[in-house]
Amino acid sequence: MPTRPYRCIYWSRNRVDGADEIVRAIDSILVSARHNNRLLGITGALAFDRGLFAQFLEGEIRAVELVFEKIQRDERHGDIQVLAFGPASKRAFRTSPMAFLGRTPEEHRRFVEAGDDAEAGADRIEAQRLLDIVRTLGVEDPDPSR
Ligand SMILES: Cc1cc2nc3c(=O)[nH]c(=O)nc-3n(C[C@H](O)[C@H](O)[C@H](O)COP(=O)(O)O)c2cc1C
Repeated sequence: MPTRPYRCIYWSRNRVDGADEIVRAIDSILVSARHNNRLLGITGALAFDRGLFAQFLEGEIRAVELVFEKIQRDERHGDIQVLAFGPASKRAFRTSPMAFLGRTPEEHRRFVEAGDDAEAGADRIEAQRLLDIVRTLGVEDPDPSR
């Protein structure tokens, strides 16, 4: 029987300067996240909006802890605020090792790349909820490049 999944939800502030640099940083984050998370059985979503990241990670507790420890040491972001860390009844993201929803110049392309099957469609809806959390928490920074 699969163990009960753990869930970590946090938001943080981007520390990368410049619109092109943040696009590149997000690309590189997604490449490592999708590779590592798939190996660790982690699913989730990353949102980026107006200088804030929000991320939803879920999986086996030790896997979530391992990845979140690495993420916390990453200097591309800071001021990490944990919104939730604990057991969840089931996974919200069943298939995506790291779906992306963002507001960078490349948003549309990434959104499409997040997947085009029905399951990914459901994940997108979850990602939309995640983005809503970001909007509620920190809309005071209007500069889209930050
Ligand atoms: C906002 C943010 C979210 C990240 N999410 C993940 C993630 O879900 N999984 C992951 O492995 N790395 C994630 N990273 C990247 C890690 O901090 C780290 O750079 C990466 O895991 C190193 O991978 P490597 O050990 O394969 O080189 C994230 C970084 C940031 C800034």
